[in-house]
Amino acid sequence: MKVSERMPIVAGNWKMNLGPTEARDFAASLLSDLVTVRGVEIVLCPPAISLPAVSAVLSGTNIKLGAQNMFDAERGAFTGEISPLMLHGLCEYVILGHSERRTYFGETDDIVNRKALAAFEHNIRPIVCVGEHLEDRDANRTERVITSQVYGSLKGFPAHRLNELVVAYEPIWAIGTGRAATPQDAADVAALIRALLVELYGAVEAATIRVQYGGSVTTANAGSFAAIEDIDGSLVGGASLKPDFAEIARQTLKAKGARGAR
Ligand code: 13P
Repeated sequence: MKVSERMPIVAGNWKMNLGPTEARDFAASLLSDLVTVRGVEIVLCPPAISLPAVSAVLSGTNIKLGAQNMFDAERGAFTGEISPLMLHGLCEYVILGHSERRTYFGETDDIVNRKALAAFEHNIRPIVCVGEHLEDRDANRTERVITSQVYGSLKGFPAHRLNELVVAYEPIWAIGTGRAATPQDAADVAALIRALLVELYGAVEAATIRVQYGGSVTTANAGSFAAIEDIDGSLVGGASLKPDFAEIARQTLKAKGARGAR
């Protein structure tokens, strides 16, 4: 697959913000602007409890819905968890292995891998996050950390369905700090991720995987990340809670060029 054939993707991770009523109202306020941006896949990821309310707002539009987490089992004694069966039909995407889940909730590469496999099994597209701590970057361990996360989290997927996978490179030191990676740093790690995916799945299949950058993405820098060949869009936190979000999608489209709706 040629680079130009991958559909750009911009996702908004609302994190633990906006309950059902607020989420519905905010999604409704964004909608008229978002639907005008064609040629970029746009995904809104509200908290789980707000998914049905936002789903109702997005119904009949080209804007997609994503969850922020999911357990890998279908049902049973897993208090507080949400199963892929419950998300199936409601969400097209699920964010997995976000650094906040890895840090605060003890998620390991192995857990993330099991969840991603379950997502594939239930036809929910996983957005799997990887990224290094500042100490790792300062100690020149970025390559080692990303390699072990990619091998640990992204193994064993059905090779012919890799176009359903999104990998988000989110350097932890750039998340919520206002200190985004430089486009060059993001380009280097995105190229590393793609090279590792080639090792895992072969060049043809790996070329279908979309890679996002995340970490202090704003309207001021979204275009410079989207201009990078190996980066197909962004995973946006803080700025996705503002009307700015549509502009980030627009900047992404501008950087990549229109590619037709999918
Ligand atoms: P910020 O855009 O707020 O830095 O958050 C990034 C993020 O964690 C998206 O998943």
